[in-house]
Amino acid sequence: MCIRDRSNCLACHQANGEGIPNAFPPLAKSDFLNADHNRAIDILLHGRSGPITVNGKTYDSVMPAIALNNEQIANALTYVLNSFGNNGGQVTPAQVEKQRKATPAKADDHG
Ligand code: HEC
Repeated sequence: MCIRDRSNCLACHQANGEGIPNAFPPLAKSDFLNADHNRAIDILLHGRSGPITVNGKTYDSVMPAIALNNEQIANALTYVLNSFGNNGGQVTPAQVEKQRKATPAKADDHG
């Protein structure tokens, strides 16, 4: 199951986590990812679109929400955080559940 979770990500972000210039931002040594784990959880829960700057480069694309449960999201992010030269760390299913409740829908105008 874990392997499938990862390939969910790496289809776009590439097997080496380096992404594709102008299309998919890198997960490898991503300053954006390492800076804020909860923000990364939100992206998996709700997707993301619009301009984003990762490691000094701007991307403007669309990531769809990934239909994974709390455990799968925790596993996928923990894997990514401990791969590709990232800073390490752990995301737990409880943390994902908390974010899920904190940000129920993308259309919500909580900012
Ligand atoms: C269909 C392609 C696609 C898939 C699948 C995908 N992503 Fe993304 N991801 C993107 C795109 C495109 C962006 C940038 C969105 C934007 O421009 O706002 C992004 C942005 C991100 C970011 C924030 C920027 C960065 O690089 O740090 C993270 C973190 C991330 N994705 C993690 C994941 C993880 C983890 C998975 C698997 C569970 C995943 N993505 C699956 C396309 C994808």
